[in-house]
Amino acid sequence: MSATPTPTSTPAFNRNNPFSSKLRENRRLNQHGSSKDTRHIVIELGSDGPTYVCGDSLGVVPRNPESLVREFTEKLGLHEDANLHETLATSAILNRVGKKFVKTVAEKASGPSRDKLQAICADEKKLDEYVFDRDVVDVLHDAPGVHLEPSEIPGLLNKIAPRLYSIASSPDHRRGEVHLTVALVQYTSHGRNKRGLASGYLADLPDQAKVPVYVQPTRHFHLPPADKDIIMVGPGTGIAPFRAFLQHRAQHGHTGRNWLFFGDQHAKSDFLYGDEFSAAQKAGHLHKLSTAFSRDQSEKIYVQHRMEQEGAELWKWLESGAYFYVCGDAKRMAKDVHAALLQIVSHHGGKTPEQADEWVSVTFAKTEKRYLKDVY
Ligand SMILES: Cc1cc2nc3c(=O)[nH]c(=O)nc-3n(C[C@H](O)[C@H](O)[C@H](O)COP(=O)(O)OP(=O)(O)OC[C@H]3O[C@@H](n4cnc5c(N)ncnc54)[C@H](O)[C@@H]3O)c2cc1C
Ligand SMILES: NC(=O)c1ccc[n+]([C@@H]2O[C@H](COP(=O)([O-])OP(=O)(O)OC[C@H]3O[C@@H](n4cnc5c(N)ncnc54)[C@H](OP(=O)(O)O)[C@@H]3O)[C@@H](O)[C@H]2O)c1
Repeated sequence: MSATPTPTSTPAFNRNNPFSSKLRENRRLNQHGSSKDTRHIVIELGSDGPTYVCGDSLGVVPRNPESLVREFTEKLGLHEDANLHETLATSAILNRVGKKFVKTVAEKASGPSRDKLQAICADEKKLDEYVFDRDVVDVLHDAPGVHLEPSEIPGLLNKIAPRLYSIASSPDHRRGEVHLTVALVQYTSHGRNKRGLASGYLADLPDQAKVPVYVQPTRHFHLPPADKDIIMVGPGTGIAPFRAFLQHRAQHGHTGRNWLFFGDQHAKSDFLYGDEFSAAQKAGHLHKLSTAFSRDQSEKIYVQHRMEQEGAELWKWLESGAYFYVCGDAKRMAKDVHAALLQIVSHHGGKTPEQADEWVSVTFAKTEKRYLKDVY
């Protein structure tokens, strides 16, 4: 008797079982003169990889740069231990440092460096300050000659976790591909250049490199029905899902209007995907584009200032059923955009501040589900 064929199903890729994708493109979006380094990353998922919808995020499982692993193991005299090198490269955070590592090094150090580190460890506030902008190599600079057993090192360091990136492409735009918009985190502290783990990993990837990824489905950040208008507020890398939304709506002939608020430092160097948005405007797929270039004049102009300037029109869109999307920085931008929205609803909707708050937080966000955020 022949075996019953098992139905094929898409393998469940996740953070513990990522798909091995391939890098297709790694291009800097900022132009000459910019202080930022934002990358357009194109990853090939092919026909075997995970599938996604607009609004989803891509999980990326990063590894440390070889140079940092080597710098660290050389300081410990352990650079010939290939097993340790690979374990550290794939599983331990090296670009930042935790208190457990500092405390262990303080115990094992000798001479004045031991006294100095132990004094820091005895004072929680000083220890917080000490770990804030140091990496593991900075700590070893402060404890020359310290000896650690290879077997104990991974246990002293925090474990690498995947990072999420909002997907910047529609799955139907170029099938089998996923696009990301990644801001490279980089800064200098204690005389050494530091980079974000995952953004640095992505920025360094050569063409065709293997990239372990999985799709993190969104629970709520979906496109509305095709005939609904949308307002999208996405400064900086917050633009990512809106590029996907616009691609999707153009390709599928959605009839709802699209209004994009974008902001970054300078129009000349930081208008991410500026050419694409100009083309979408010309083609009639992007109905309104409001930009806020914060550093092109002496006073700061942010997206929420443009919203306020266009308050009457914005309120008309909201009143007639538009959905309102915000993506990007959670700490400051999304709060300020929320405050601007309240102000617009109050002023142009003729409501008291309390009524505006009730309308935005309850009617608009919860009941009608027209206020959607993807902030980080
Ligand atoms: C749902 C979601 C979607 C996201 N989408 C995007 C996206 O589309 N694009 C994007 O770029 N990011 C996005 N992010 C953020 C992204 O996941 C990462 O958090 C980001 O890339 C930084 O990760 P990293 O590994 O490069 O940096 P890490 O290694 O995690 O380092 C970042 C940390 O470095 C420290 N640091 C930074 N600057 C300094 C400094 N000057 N001095 C001292 N310490 C400093 C801070 O503590 C900061 O938290 C998203 C996050 C979420 C949750
Ligand atoms: N929560 C987080 O940890 C977080 C979130 C987002 C980004 N970042 C980090 O910031 C770096 C760049 O990120 P990004 O490229 O996405 O851009 P961004 O730093 O968010 O900046 C985009 C634009 O937003 C402006 N902006 C600053 N404060 C704002 C506010 N309160 N309201 C509205 N707009 C505001 C910026 O102006 P000015 O720069 O001129 O002030 C800039 O013009 C990256 O290193 C990224 O990792 C961190």
